[in-house]
Amino acid sequence: MNITVIGSGYVGLVSGTCFAEMGNTVTCVDTDPDKIEKLKQGDIPIFEPGLEAMVLKNVKDNNLFFTTELEKALQNAEIAFIAVGTPTGADGAADLQYVLAVAKSIGQLMQKKIIVVDKSTVPIGTADKVKATIQKELDARDSNLEFEVVSNPEFLKEGAAIADFMKPDRVVIGADSEFAFKKMKEVYAPFFRSHDRFIAMDLRSAEMTKYAANAMLATKISFMNEIANICEKVGADANQVRIGVGSDQRIGYSFIYPGAGYGGSCFPKDVKALTKIAKENGYTAQLITAVEEVNNAQKLVIAQKIITRFGEDLTGFTFGFWGLAFKPGTDDMREAPSIYVIKELVKRGAQIKAYDPKAIDEAKEHYLKEVQNITYAASKYDVLKDSDALVLLTEWKEFRSPDFEEIKVQLKKPVIFDGRNQYIAYDLENKGWEYYRIGKN
Ligand SMILES: NC(=O)c1ccc[n+]([C@@H]2O[C@H](COP(=O)([O-])OP(=O)(O)OC[C@H]3O[C@@H](n4cnc5c(N)ncnc54)[C@H](O)[C@@H]3O)[C@@H](O)[C@H]2O)c1
Repeated sequence: MNITVIGSGYVGLVSGTCFAEMGNTVTCVDTDPDKIEKLKQGDIPIFEPGLEAMVLKNVKDNNLFFTTELEKALQNAEIAFIAVGTPTGADGAADLQYVLAVAKSIGQLMQKKIIVVDKSTVPIGTADKVKATIQKELDARDSNLEFEVVSNPEFLKEGAAIADFMKPDRVVIGADSEFAFKKMKEVYAPFFRSHDRFIAMDLRSAEMTKYAANAMLATKISFMNEIANICEKVGADANQVRIGVGSDQRIGYSFIYPGAGYGGSCFPKDVKALTKIAKENGYTAQLITAVEEVNNAQKLVIAQKIITRFGEDLTGFTFGFWGLAFKPGTDDMREAPSIYVIKELVKRGAQIKAYDPKAIDEAKEHYLKEVQNITYAASKYDVLKDSDALVLLTEWKEFRSPDFEEIKVQLKKPVIFDGRNQYIAYDLENKGWEYYRIGKN
């Protein structure tokens, strides 16, 4: 099948590459000429395990193409996926300007019947807006070309995006015609050989499913963080509680790790957007609002522990950071807790030395660009020399079993702040360490 993917970021590039891997001919479009030029040169602008090899293979096999020219990309396309960003707008709602700009361009440029698929996370009712936008442009051209609009929210996780896309738990399709469902089934059939994981529904329900899924996961995280904060007050250990609670099959172990709060490009903006969607429709989403509030406070819990230990004025203290990305397996730093913790400490005069296996360029070029008092190191042990404490914020595997003797030699004193609750080896307190973690005093 001939497929166009519009927007070549995390979702667009991964989706396009996986569709190409299944033998489709895919053109990935982006308005960012640098990104497209890099991709044409085989330089992958994001880190995602397995992505680079898959892109290079499919480019070589002539299954995957990159362009800034939407008109050219639409020429033979049977399906066009919209995978552009939907960031938080000034009022907290998802900013639809990129999605609607693409819809407008499709209406202006399409030359044959096409299925337009919203893969971006979009507020309920967006498919209708996309439909109206395309139709308006076709009317202006006096064209009677036909098109369908489908909602196909994406559930991949950064850090495991290829695996998730190639073997999805489910593929949700919202549509209002048999033709659209049939075509979407054809596109996704190669991804589930053993049994069907296709869930068909109406457009609005599909749009809502994505927000509901992210809000549910964010709720689990904020819930457990709240429990962890109460654990600290009452002398319980959140990690032991996590194990006790997760063993209940109705609850499960996933997404109940106490930590420094959720970040990334999805949960923060989608939780905010859902609250806004509810409000616009006359409903106050109390629980979802609280999920965000708990998370905002949680991002600073580890900073508060550092302040309690070292004092309000951190002038003269240096902190070695392990981890900057919002989670392991990605270079993405959007809304990462590290940004908030580092800014809070720097505001109080601290010096920061930071290491992350993948996200240092992102930090330097974007998210911590304006921050003075920060230097970056090439290895996890390099940040420790003359630092007053080690702060762990992203649970990369290479931090799981470090050389504690080496850390002790490098640090001024053996002090660790673990923002991922006992991610570093347990029992440090009994081995002469000052070990502070979320969910235990
Ligand atoms: N990142 C994730 O883990 C994830 C997971 C599921 C869903 N989503 C959703 O998918 C959407 C995309 O997210 P992302 O993380 O891939 O974003 P991203 O910022 O990484 O990529 C978006 C891309 O779209 C491009 N773009 C903007 N306007 C364009 C236009 N008119 N034509 C062509 N390209 C254009 C940008 O240059 C950018 O490269 C969002 O709605 C997001 O909520 C993201």
